[in-house]
Amino acid sequence: MIDDSTRQLCFDGRNVPFRPGQSVGAALAAAGISSWRTTRVGAAPRGLFCGIGVCYDCLVTVDGRRSQRACMTPAHEGQVVASDDPRRALDEPGGPNA
Ligand code: FES
Repeated sequence: MIDDSTRQLCFDGRNVPFRPGQSVGAALAAAGISSWRTTRVGAAPRGLFCGIGVCYDCLVTVDGRRSQRACMTPAHEGQVVASDDPRRALDEPGGPNA
């Protein structure tokens, strides 16, 4: 039997455990992390809202790919997840228009 507690992803340099089948968003929420990006206007914190891929509030960078929905992205061992900074230009390396 595999010990689920040994499965971890890395979020902003912090190890976050997850269970098989969990999304990145679920893993972050279970670890007590409730926000991982801010809005362009007002820098309001954002994290999970709808949890079903509709609202796009949960955008995060996953393995260098920006603007991934944390609630729809399956967690994987060794995955590198970073909070999203909306002030970064879209054509920066790793951006969707690069
Ligand atoms: S929480 Fe709404 S799209 Fe992810």
